[in-house]
Amino acid sequence: MNKQNNKLIINGDVFVPLLSEEQIQKRVKELGEQISKDYKGKVPVFIGVLNGAFIFMSDLIKNIDIECEIDFFKLSSYGDSKISSGKVKLLKELNCDVNGRDIIIVEDIVDTGLSIKYIEELFSKHTPNSMRVVSLLVKPESLKYDVKIDYIGFKIPSQFVIGYGLDYQQKYRNLSSIYVLSE
Ligand code: IMP
Ligand code: MG
Repeated sequence: MNKQNNKLIINGDVFVPLLSEEQIQKRVKELGEQISKDYKGKVPVFIGVLNGAFIFMSDLIKNIDIECEIDFFKLSSYGDSKISSGKVKLLKELNCDVNGRDIIIVEDIVDTGLSIKYIEELFSKHTPNSMRVVSLLVKPESLKYDVKIDYIGFKIPSQFVIGYGLDYQQKYRNLSSIYVLSE
């Protein structure tokens, strides 16, 4: 990875800043406050989708001021490429019992919506009291499946992004801001 001005150059591809650390932190705080208000009197279970959502999940729950629980499961859809493979695999199961619980699925990004569709089907075998989805990023123009995202951090163009949990070939998740592949 080569840094020039604000740009990142990775294998000849140029990535430019899209969302700063300050913008992300401000929005995550707002989402946390909104969810805390909406779930007042309840004890929701935040369920993060690994690997991408781990940083967002961590910052989000620090902004939740009601009692809550957390769990994770792991999906894979992208492999190592910049485009969705169109297939989803469950790589790690949930450990908690979601029956009768208010669950909030935490995603880093919704692209085609395939992963969320898969998650909805997974949970249709259980009987949670309620299920909502929060995603830091949504690419509205890429959506191919009819899915409802209840809380959205930012709507972004249909371009490949990295940082703040999001990877390219498993790397760059550790960047504290988000960069977009420039065309
Ligand atoms: P979907 O199933 O097509 O909605 O894609 C969702 C998953 O693909 C996300 O949870 C990410 O892990 C990954 N993904 C989608 N877009 C990007 C991107 O721009 N950068 C990195 N990962 C992405
Ligand atoms: Mg993901």
